[in-house]
Amino acid sequence: MLASIRNAFIITGTLFASLALCQDSSTSLVTRRLTEYLLPQAVETHEFARVPNSPFVLLSQMSDSKLIKIQLDPLTEQPIAYQAFPMGASDKSGLHGVWPSTMYPGKMWLTLQNDNKLLLVDPGTHLSTPPTILKTIDIPTPGNGPHCVFEIGNRVWAGLKLASEQTGQYYVFSADITNSTNYNLYECLNSPVFIKEEPVSKFIYVTQDTDSSIMRINVTTGATKQLPIPPSVGNTPVGMITGHGALEGVWFSLAGNATGGAGSFGRIDSKGHMHFFHLQNPQLGGNAGLLHIADASTTAQGPALWLLSTSLLSTHSPDALIRVSFNDDVTAVASEEYISMLTQNAMVHRVVPMDNTVLVSELHTYTLAQLQYNNTVAGRWLPAETVTETLVYEKAS
Ligand SMILES: *[C@@H]1O[C@H](CO)[C@@H](O)[C@H](O)[C@H]1NC(C)=O
Ligand SMILES: *[C@@H]1O[C@H](CO)[C@@H](O)[C@H](O)[C@H]1NC(C)=O
Ligand SMILES: *[C@@H]1O[C@H](CO)[C@@H](O)[C@H](O)[C@H]1NC(C)=O
Ligand SMILES: *[C@@H]1O[C@H](CO)[C@@H](O)[C@H](O)[C@H]1NC(C)=O
Repeated sequence: MLASIRNAFIITGTLFASLALCQDSSTSLVTRRLTEYLLPQAVETHEFARVPNSPFVLLSQMSDSKLIKIQLDPLTEQPIAYQAFPMGASDKSGLHGVWPSTMYPGKMWLTLQNDNKLLLVDPGTHLSTPPTILKTIDIPTPGNGPHCVFEIGNRVWAGLKLASEQTGQYYVFSADITNSTNYNLYECLNSPVFIKEEPVSKFIYVTQDTDSSIMRINVTTGATKQLPIPPSVGNTPVGMITGHGALEGVWFSLAGNATGGAGSFGRIDSKGHMHFFHLQNPQLGGNAGLLHIADASTTAQGPALWLLSTSLLSTHSPDALIRVSFNDDVTAVASEEYISMLTQNAMVHRVVPMDNTVLVSELHTYTLAQLQYNNTVAGRWLPAETVTETLVYEKAS
């Protein structure tokens, strides 16, 4: 009792001191703001990507095969309007993958999983302009069900999510963009999702979610090798990115299973070795099911990643966006900033950084969420330090 009275005096004293300081200079508020933008109602809101050098984001709603073209305010990057366009033969065509082309700047790759097709589209100059199809690539048998699509060099790649009707196997598809009769189908495990190139060795790596393994492809010989995820570390590799500079290699996240995630993610270096990392904060990160990953590095803040924890596989995993930074030689996590999503059980799906903000798609609640900082930047949010502090209650009481 006596102790808390004494504490109260100390607190009051501090308050007066800061009030006195505030009298001659006002302070701009540092804010971290999350806003949800409602999209057309659909059962599954999936992939999205920014159309480079434009104010548009393209987003796929798979359950009714609609492409949502979203216009961003050029200054604030806030979504301001959208227009929906049906894609494919019917509303069962299964529009899923969305990826910007580098070979054709401003044009976008899409996948129609159930029509077994890849499309290259021109999104159109205005919000109301329907996308025009410039190229259609039919997935050859025995391939089935292009899910995510990527462009690497002069080739387009797609993970074929559905078992082949002819062989019962799963495949990764790759074709020369200018001559799609020059194609390869690589047999893989159940079921290929993200496909990325390791920048030094030039090996191609593919996450396979259900069978919890990563496939490595030597594109020169066509030889493939499986790198299984040790179950002691976690399971279900999904998101993958190519890392450059201090993050050189490929990075992937582990989404966990119905019992929850393990807050784990990994890196494959140029020699093909896997290194695993874990979120440190047991309260918020212990059950994180890390579905997707994005580069969060900045010149000022150094190497960092965005990790997206989702309730998609387990309600034990939170819907949260987590920024991790690393020690100097990128061998361990140095700090973590947690942004709990506004709607839990939203089954967040993808995280895509814009220039100054970060967008997250919410699969189950047909929303796009935007994270925006003012008068600070991601990674410098000071309360992130105190979240790891476990003795607050004792101190406060
Ligand atoms: C950001 O902070 C500046 C300076 O305090 C203020 O003028 C501006 O209105 C703020 N912007 C938003 C979006 O809050
Ligand atoms: C396209 O690829 C096929 C298969 O590799 C090859 O036979 C054909 O010569 C190529 N066509 C052109 C125009 O390069
Ligand atoms: C692929 O295999 C060839 C032949 O064995 C080898 O020379 C090459 O270094 C391997 N790696 C890559 C990334 O192509
Ligand atoms: C989920 O993964 C954990 C860790 O690998 C494992 O112990 C557990 O049996 C798995 N649960 C299910 C339902 O597959």
